[in-house]
Amino acid sequence: MTAASGNQHRPFRPGERVLLIDSKARRYMITLAEGGSFSTHAGTIPHTDLIGRDEGILLRSSHGARLRAVRPTLSDFILKMPRGAQVIYPKDIGPILVLADIFPGARLLEAGVGSGALSMALLRAVGAEGSVVGYELREDFAAKALKNVESFLGPDQPYRVEIRDVYEGIGPEHFPDGALDRIVLDLPEPWRVVKHATEALRPGGILLSYLPTIGQVARLREELDGSPFGLAETLEVLQRTWHVEGQSVRPDHRMVAHTGFLTAARLLDPDLPEVPPGPGVSPGNAA
Ligand SMILES: C[S@@+](CC[C@H](N)C(=O)[O-])C[C@H]1O[C@@H](n2cnc3c(N)ncnc32)[C@H](O)[C@@H]1O
Repeated sequence: MTAASGNQHRPFRPGERVLLIDSKARRYMITLAEGGSFSTHAGTIPHTDLIGRDEGILLRSSHGARLRAVRPTLSDFILKMPRGAQVIYPKDIGPILVLADIFPGARLLEAGVGSGALSMALLRAVGAEGSVVGYELREDFAAKALKNVESFLGPDQPYRVEIRDVYEGIGPEHFPDGALDRIVLDLPEPWRVVKHATEALRPGGILLSYLPTIGQVARLREELDGSPFGLAETLEVLQRTWHVEGQSVRPDHRMVAHTGFLTAARLLDPDLPEVPPGPGVSPGNAA
């Protein structure tokens, strides 16, 4: 008996999303339906071949092509989901979660929401005890984000999207006890949010911004420098995949290099008094 066969089985059911991967690593996302079928140039697979089968099964199309069937991960879904605005790619989403230190129970503001790719990752990280309020200028994008989130994570998420311009302020109703834990921005002029973030975040809270060009980063850092935010850092993530086939092991010829820069900073209360050295510590030997 293999380890996998001892695990709990969860066969594919109608209505579920399935990712089919062919021998050239091409990926197709389908939703199973009674009587449905999937067709490509490589042939057809009736959905009945999948319904009731276990994840990971290998299928043969009508033309003999082999396809592996698994449930899509969040990353798979983001790359295939319907979009209006440009999404943040999985390459950057993971680092955003760590750099902004998104934790279970966190209360977040996200602007702009766009297609909701980042929203999904934020929602998974804050969990049922947390909340994500999204600000978005465009109603059509907001509707798409809500649909994508529900489609992948299911209904009743602690998520709502308001049609609002975050440059005009953050509604106090979103931080009733004076404390948002995190603000995550993916919009062109995040420096216009710094002042509002100062009022909405709790001390120690984190502002994170995703920006495509370094000129925008410089402008944001300038604004942060003149604000109560500190401990600012900016980075970018380069992802290089490798070709691994027998003895042929080398970096792939192509890589996704630049997408955007991540900048994070923490709100530090400028009115906090400086704590003098404790007894027995002279200014000379204080670290
Ligand atoms: C690149 S998209 C965000 C994509 C999103 N992060 C995702 O992963 O799907 C930027 C969004 O910000 C919105 N936006 C731009 N300025 C805004 C503002 N001042 N307030 C709220 N939303 C804004 C735009 O309408 C657009 O949908």
